[in-house]
Amino acid sequence: MTEAILLVGGKGTRLRPLTVNTPKPMVPAAGVPFLTHQLARARAAGVEHIVLATSYLAEVFEPYFGDGSALGLHLEYVTEEEPLGTGGAIRNVASRLRSAPDEPVLIFNGDILTGLDIRALVATHESSGADVSLHLTRVEDPRAYGLVPTDATGRVQAFLEKPQTPEEIVTDQINAGAYVFRRSVIDSIPQGRPVSVERETFPELLASGAHLQGMVDSTYWLDLGTPQAFVRGSADLVLGRAPSPAVPGRCGDSLVLPSAGVAPDAKLTGGTVVGADAVVGAGARISGSTVLDGAVIEPGAIVTDSLIGAGAHIGARSVLTGAVIGDGARVGADNELRDGIRIWCEARLPDGAVRFSSDQ
Ligand code: GDD
Ligand code: MG
Repeated sequence: MTEAILLVGGKGTRLRPLTVNTPKPMVPAAGVPFLTHQLARARAAGVEHIVLATSYLAEVFEPYFGDGSALGLHLEYVTEEEPLGTGGAIRNVASRLRSAPDEPVLIFNGDILTGLDIRALVATHESSGADVSLHLTRVEDPRAYGLVPTDATGRVQAFLEKPQTPEEIVTDQINAGAYVFRRSVIDSIPQGRPVSVERETFPELLASGAHLQGMVDSTYWLDLGTPQAFVRGSADLVLGRAPSPAVPGRCGDSLVLPSAGVAPDAKLTGGTVVGADAVVGAGARISGSTVLDGAVIEPGAIVTDSLIGAGAHIGARSVLTGAVIGDGARVGADNELRDGIRIWCEARLPDGAVRFSSDQ
């Protein structure tokens, strides 16, 4: 059966401060490190051997996932001394692959939550005889992604990574971050230097006449690269909107890990997750949010669409909407935090220090 490479070495810059202590794929979504969902979905599609291409905070992956046997997988880890970019990372793990030159190898970006039918992507690859096949999805604003126009048969005509000018926005089809490569194509990527698969490998393959095939699949798809997207993805996993065999417990309005303490009259809705040893006080209302391990939400706080870092503390009656609170930060009582605010790890905000609404 097909083997896979998972790209998990990015710095997760847009997710800071969540990624200050934890690489993006290890930030918990629906109660487990996000990567667990991707690994479980690959396993469910019949993949048994996965090589993790690590770089940033590389040391945390293996102690958690080990040899992968708990997930029914055989996992290997390859760490780059210097980040090699997406293409360089793929090339750097080639020696661990077992596939023959013409056999298909799956490759996944490590921050994508999707219902993609992985077997269908492999089947498309085999039936089209392509060198590389790409999962494509449609988005309203494609500028933050790789644009992939195709012809009527799905053959890729161009690859335009993060277009800068309006003329470059020729399609709403984007690279969804899952590929099947013919193994020999991986071996042809230059070795020992940074390579971007999006900016270098795909355009060069197209220029040389290689066959790149796109498969548009409009199933659930989300890149968890921003805090807003991460919170959304975690909530969708809990609500059952995003499919994963790895959600620990039944899907529903909220997920409370066994060692958490939630006051009987606290309200948890919209896919909220309360992590291990976290505490939610009386009358608190938490909606569509992720509360990581050991965090404390004091009585009467209202938390919406927000991410509360491990061990962070939210003071009584504080109101948070679309906020990210770093690990170990302390937000005092009676604060109002809104729309994209990011409080750094270990920062201290006194009682009543920030507000938006007018005083009565
Ligand atoms: N090992 C390793 N080394 N992995 C890396 C490196 C590196 O130097 N750089 C990035 N990665 C990993 C990231 O951890 C992530 O899983 C994946 O490669 C993609 O990097 P992102 O930083 O998340 O890229 P992006 O979201 O801006 O764009 C990519 O994904 C889009 C879909 O979400 C591109 O592939 C776009 O074309 C695509 O549309
Ligand atoms: Mg990304």
